[in-house]
Amino acid sequence: MAIKKPFFISFEGVEGSGKSTQAKLLYKFIKKKITKKVILTREPGGTPFAEKIRNILLDNKIKNNPLTEFFLLMAARNDHVVNKINYYLKKKFIIICDRFFYSTLAYQHYLEGMNKKFISNVQKKIFSRIHPDITFLIDLDKKESKKRISKRNKKTNRFDKLSTHDFNKIRNGFLKISKIYKNKITIINGRKSLNEIQKNINKKTLKLLNVGN
Ligand code: TYD
Repeated sequence: MAIKKPFFISFEGVEGSGKSTQAKLLYKFIKKKITKKVILTREPGGTPFAEKIRNILLDNKIKNNPLTEFFLLMAARNDHVVNKINYYLKKKFIIICDRFFYSTLAYQHYLEGMNKKFISNVQKKIFSRIHPDITFLIDLDKKESKKRISKRNKKTNRFDKLSTHDFNKIRNGFLKISKIYKNKITIINGRKSLNEIQKNINKKTLKLLNVGN
């Protein structure tokens, strides 16, 4: 089935919220039920170059200066947008991205205290015309997030070890962002079951893509 316009879906949320799982599930759902022209990608990362930067950023041992980290994130994003997102948008694919620029506001502005205008100006340079059509923000409290992260098999990175204070700065940051972009962001209660969340996301996506159930 042909989708009329390029469609860009992003997933956002705190660590352990289940956003990566839901992004994967939506990808499979779209591929099976709607169109093969869909890709799943992530930030930081998504291209070989940006994945290298991701590894530097997520290294357990390094805590970079916020500005150094910001420019690494932006270098990764620029590569991702120039070499992947733009390409697939032109080919009219549906793009599902695990984290995008609301994460930069939540982490670099609300957590690290970087100037919002400065962040926005740099981002405008990278993607003047790109804005996710819809974002699913999976909201979760620290207690539940911690429980889930400790159950994961994969090794934790330094972001997974945030204090409650910092975690709440990010979480509340996302909630503030969702008020600013209220017609773009759908907040999902991350405490609901995986299945329930998935159904909700699929339904909303079908409606937005105008393909019915
Ligand atoms: P992610 O892979 O989503 O971590 P997880 O799977 O554990 O949720 O993202 C890696 C980290 O990068 C995450 O803690 C948030 C951070 N990040 C920023 O600080 N700014 C950004 O712009 C982006 C995209 C991510």
